[in-house]
Amino acid sequence: MTPQSATAATEPTPLARKLMARIAADGPIPVSAYMDACLNDPEHGYYRTAQPLGRSGDFITAPEISQVFGELLGLWAASVWQAMGAPKPVALIELGPGRGTLAADALRAAKALPAFQEALSLHLVETSPVLQSEQARLLGTGITTWHDTINDVPDGPAIIFANEFLDALPVRQLVWRDGEWRERCVAHDPDQGFLFCEGSLAELSTAEQNLLPCDPADGDIAELRSDATGLLAAIRARGDAQPQAALFIDYGHGEAAAGDTLQAVSGHRYAGVFDAPGQHDLTAHVDFRALAKQADMAGLGAFGPMAQGRFLLQLGLEARCQTLLRAGTPAQQQSIMSGARRLVDPTQMGELFKVMAVTAGLSEAPPPFGEQQ
Ligand SMILES: C[S@@+](CC[C@H](N)C(=O)[O-])C[C@H]1O[C@@H](n2cnc3c(N)ncnc32)[C@H](O)[C@@H]1O
Repeated sequence: MTPQSATAATEPTPLARKLMARIAADGPIPVSAYMDACLNDPEHGYYRTAQPLGRSGDFITAPEISQVFGELLGLWAASVWQAMGAPKPVALIELGPGRGTLAADALRAAKALPAFQEALSLHLVETSPVLQSEQARLLGTGITTWHDTINDVPDGPAIIFANEFLDALPVRQLVWRDGEWRERCVAHDPDQGFLFCEGSLAELSTAEQNLLPCDPADGDIAELRSDATGLLAAIRARGDAQPQAALFIDYGHGEAAAGDTLQAVSGHRYAGVFDAPGQHDLTAHVDFRALAKQADMAGLGAFGPMAQGRFLLQLGLEARCQTLLRAGTPAQQQSIMSGARRLVDPTQMGELFKVMAVTAGLSEAPPPFGEQQ
């Protein structure tokens, strides 16, 4: 898809002014710093101030489209918990839980296995105060606690969900120019506004070097998501003593690097990445090939990626829909069918969205990845 509109704000946003001052003082900033500021600036960042989800927001996600999504993940968690040896207690951790819909649907499905339901506590890793209060409203505070990062979640066995979380972690962009990698940066010009430029390369860790394409052509752009390396290391550290299983679901690519995938969305339409900084969602595709390498380098097992459609069908989407259809009114039946189709149809979310499982301390592939090997 291509952007449908680039609605330039007439007045600079408060964050745009802050970024202009920063660039005027320090010079151009790396793309990762621009993306981080747009999403996470403590005063004006998108995820600090906006309510992004739903029809009245900027985008809609799988759990908001169909309850079946969260329910199947809840059943997946129950079966992984059994494969872990049914540890008690067990933490169900969700990274970036949005409105809390996925967790609510997963917890309802987990009632099918009462011993699992009794063993679990829910840990939500969420930076948005706006969304935290929505989550508290939906989920209550009984078994739920909130954390700024996964490092704050108490040690122990854990099952982790991350739906459309990785795409919100900032990416560095490197440009291959004249036989070397350069840092893609954001500059500001009084006449042209924000614009891309190329600067000298900031330090590259060994892990980052391992993720770069081997044979780039002049002008190629590579994206590096170092926060994902940190996240996987944190999961690995938790797994030194206790089993961990994480499910990453996101839109992205599983094969060769895709170049520049930075995109802005506002009101369910694409916008320019420099339009209204702090007021539009800014994401970049997840490079699942890199994620698998990052997991491997962290000493974790990595399974997939598998297309979301196939993943949900193998987990039993059709049977779950049939059960719901029997109990539904005609209007509900219509919505169940259209929601399920949207999740699995290859022309909608079924192929673009992918699922990868990452494990520590588990001897077997989690379902349905064992069936894929
Ligand atoms: C695209 S939304 C996905 C929401 C939810 N998973 C869903 O599927 O509906 C991204 C979520 O990640 C949260 N988030 C973004 N960056 C974060 C960070 N660095 N740490 C924790 N949460 C973050 C956002 O506030 C939001 O809840």
